[in-house]
Amino acid sequence: MKVLVLNGPNLGRLGSREPVIYGSTTYAQLVELCQETGRELGLEVEVRQTDHEGEMLGWLHEAADSTTPVVLNAGAWTHYSIAVRDAAAQLTAPLVEVHISNVHQREEFRHHSFISAIAAGVIVGLGVDGYDLALRWVAKNAG
Ligand code: DQA
Repeated sequence: MKVLVLNGPNLGRLGSREPVIYGSTTYAQLVELCQETGRELGLEVEVRQTDHEGEMLGWLHEAADSTTPVVLNAGAWTHYSIAVRDAAAQLTAPLVEVHISNVHQREEFRHHSFISAIAAGVIVGLGVDGYDLALRWVAKNAG
C-alpha cells in the first residue's frame, strides 16, 4: 500500500529550525526515518514537503483521487487554512495529523487545528517519532 507523508511550510528546515522546539533531526533524516518504517511495514512511503499552499492542495487532491492514506503535518496551515482542511476532507482513505511539538503547550494560536475534525487521529508532541507511530497505525488500519 502506498502512503503519502505530506509536510507543510518550514518543515524542510528541520534540524536548523528552532531545534529546542523541533529537535535536531534534519528533514533528510525525517524522510529516511519514514522510508525505513515503510520498508519494515511493507508500505510504499513517499515523503514530500512544500512551502506553497497550492502545491499541498494538489497533493491532497491526488491522494483523494487515488484513495491513498495520508500522514499530514500541515505546519502553520493547520491553524488557519480552511483550504487545506477542505482538500483533506475529500480523502476517502484515512488521514493522520502529526505535529512534532506539543502545540497545546505553546502559544494559544496553535491550540486550534482546522485539520483535527476530519483526521482519523492526531499525534502531537512526540517529536519525529510521531511520523513512525502514524505510519504504524496506517499499516494496521488502512487499505
Ligand atoms: C508544527 C506546529 C505548528 O504550530 C508550526 O506552525 C509548525 C510545525 C509541528 O510539527 O510541531 O510549522 O506543525
